[in-house]
Amino acid sequence: MSDKETSRQTPPSVDGGADGKPVVILGIESSCDDTSAAVIRDGVLLSNVTASQAVHEAYGGVVPELASRAHQQNIVPVVDQALKRAGVAREELSAIAFTRGPGLMGSLLVGVSFAKGMAAALGIPMIDVNHLQGHVLAHFIREKEQVQQQPPFPFLCLLVSGGNSQIVLVRAYNDMEIIGQTIDDAAGEAIDKCSKVMGLGYPGGPIIDRLARQGNPEAYHFARPSIPGYDYSFSGLKTSFLYSLRDWLLSDPDFVEHHKADLAASLEHTVVDILMNKLRRAAKALKIKHVAVAGGVSANTGLRNAFLDHARRFGWTVYIPKFGFTTDNAAMIAITGYFKYRDHDFCPMEAPAYSRVAL
Ligand code: KG4
Repeated sequence: MSDKETSRQTPPSVDGGADGKPVVILGIESSCDDTSAAVIRDGVLLSNVTASQAVHEAYGGVVPELASRAHQQNIVPVVDQALKRAGVAREELSAIAFTRGPGLMGSLLVGVSFAKGMAAALGIPMIDVNHLQGHVLAHFIREKEQVQQQPPFPFLCLLVSGGNSQIVLVRAYNDMEIIGQTIDDAAGEAIDKCSKVMGLGYPGGPIIDRLARQGNPEAYHFARPSIPGYDYSFSGLKTSFLYSLRDWLLSDPDFVEHHKADLAASLEHTVVDILMNKLRRAAKALKIKHVAVAGGVSANTGLRNAFLDHARRFGWTVYIPKFGFTTDNAAMIAITGYFKYRDHDFCPMEAPAYSRVAL
């Protein structure tokens, strides 16, 4: 890692194909518990359809076997809807982009196999997309008649989801480096688990967010990690939350009911502080002032406010995705596929899904 500012590049251009025909990409996402399909024409989003899976709520977490079964049921109607809403016929597709990993293997296999079958039937190329790269490139999704500010290269992206917490140095849309990441739990995973021990629903993130708006963020203090570099750790916070709650429940069995807003606000505040401290240090060392956030946890109000606050205090230009592009969605897979299509970066039919992979 260098502390010199990397040379600037303009964002990738988003016009049509070399033969003058529009480039139409169908994106498919099935890495966890959302079945999603999206259509992008010449870099502009035409449709983005997602079927979420309520079946996991009863278990307080995603059950992989149930997730893959639900993907099987959802994939055909979701892809049909995406094409219909886009007003695009199958024959107009230039390529199919799909999430190849990381994710749950059984879930990935549904999207990967579907993409292979459809691409073979239509005789068009396939583009494999890294789910994490997709989250970062969600900032380049353009919608009709909308002028959205896109981050110039290089920028830093805080990628925070249920499975990842990373600081990514983005030099170009196809050149990214993870400069810090969690050594144990992800931020979203820690929030979801704390929410679970409080007996709240699943996923905990949006519930904690809602409750936190009415609570005092300084009411309780939980353990903060002390690890070198730009890496994160959230397992200590989770354990400290669990043990503190266990003690408080001994003296008041209704402690959660009486204090849930303060607990949520204090938990959110601690997570956001941990995330922003390292991000601030990385931005300062690399002299980068364009800072983006991505992934499911970027829907969090406290984190979004912290970004806006950093923009004011440190002169950052911040990039916060639309809510619909924070959690898993196929629009981010389709836009990544679009950029790869322009590079002729296709994958062979035998490309397997992978459950673990870095950027
Ligand atoms: O990116 P994502 O949809 O899936 C992956 O993990 O890849 O992220 C899901 C995570 C869950 O942990 C969920 O609780 C969290 O994002 N999340 C939130 C909020 N909305 C979703 N966390 C905090 N506040 C929110 N508003």
